[in-house]
Amino acid sequence: MTLIILCTIFAYLIGSIPTAVWYGKIFHGIDVREHGSGNAGATNSLRTFGKKAGIIVLIIDFLKGFLAVFASSIFVTDATAYLPLIMGIAVIMGHIFPIFAQFRGGKGVATAMGVLVATFSWAALGCVVVFALIVFFTKYVSLGSILGAMAFPIQLSFNIWNNNADVYSQVFAWLIFVILTIMHRQNIQRLLLGTESKFGAKK
Ligand code: G3P
Repeated sequence: MTLIILCTIFAYLIGSIPTAVWYGKIFHGIDVREHGSGNAGATNSLRTFGKKAGIIVLIIDFLKGFLAVFASSIFVTDATAYLPLIMGIAVIMGHIFPIFAQFRGGKGVATAMGVLVATFSWAALGCVVVFALIVFFTKYVSLGSILGAMAFPIQLSFNIWNNNADVYSQVFAWLIFVILTIMHRQNIQRLLLGTESKFGAKK
């Protein structure tokens, strides 16, 4: 139990590294959360600082999720078989509520992607395909993120990749989808009002 608690705290702290906030403050002297959508993520970094910033934030936020789950493989045993899932949720929560940035972080998409690749790689690929298609056709990154996240539990539920995901993995998948959707609630309102900014457009 102590191991699980320590690993969960470790994953939360990794997730708490506020890449977008620190990038903006170090290289531009501003807080990305005061610009664009106000989100501390890759999309808003791209919108606010440009392509290079967006790519760097995307890669580091992705790696936070991937490495936190990957690290769990060191400790996982039969008794702690669900450690990767617990650490996956913890790293995403760290990204959303970072202790190093006043608990105001991002929406969790890139970090969740890292978690998915480290846990269910084929389903992660399916999510990326859904995300890319939606963004390509609509230019809405937020809509791509929500529907891409929705594709995760659906793929596990229908056992598309022969994962034979057990009930805990399915709960994990639905939980990630619900967390990401809640974090996009303002985007959903803007999408419904037709005021959501499109990919490539300055806000
Ligand atoms: O990764 C977050 C993305 O889905 C939406 O970002 O800045 O447009 O709210 P943003």
